[in-house]
Amino acid sequence: MPTIVFIDSGGARHEVEAKIGENLMTVGREHGLDIEGACEGVAACSTCHLIVDEDWFARLAPADEDEQDMLDLAMSLSRTSRLGCQIEVRDGMDGLVVRLPREIRNMMFD
Ligand code: FES
Repeated sequence: MPTIVFIDSGGARHEVEAKIGENLMTVGREHGLDIEGACEGVAACSTCHLIVDEDWFARLAPADEDEQDMLDLAMSLSRTSRLGCQIEVRDGMDGLVVRLPREIRNMMFD
């Protein structure tokens, strides 16, 4: 199982094992990280916003149009921002580093 490294909004590092096929929002929540995931993974809320480490960003499958549209509305947007629910864990992701943003916006309730 790949190890995914989450850096929480306070800067603490959490190394967790992830099952192939799970998405990063689910993985983070299963390990107690504060990822709301209000829409349960259908790219409709942006509360699973994660900032991917620069070195890893280009190695992930790119965001589709729906994900990009939702990210445009997220707070604390970065060049390497992604929706955690749209990143599926695959072989080769061992050591992937993602950071939780300091603030999130739930587009379902704005
Ligand atoms: S959980 Fe809502 S966009 Fe990812």
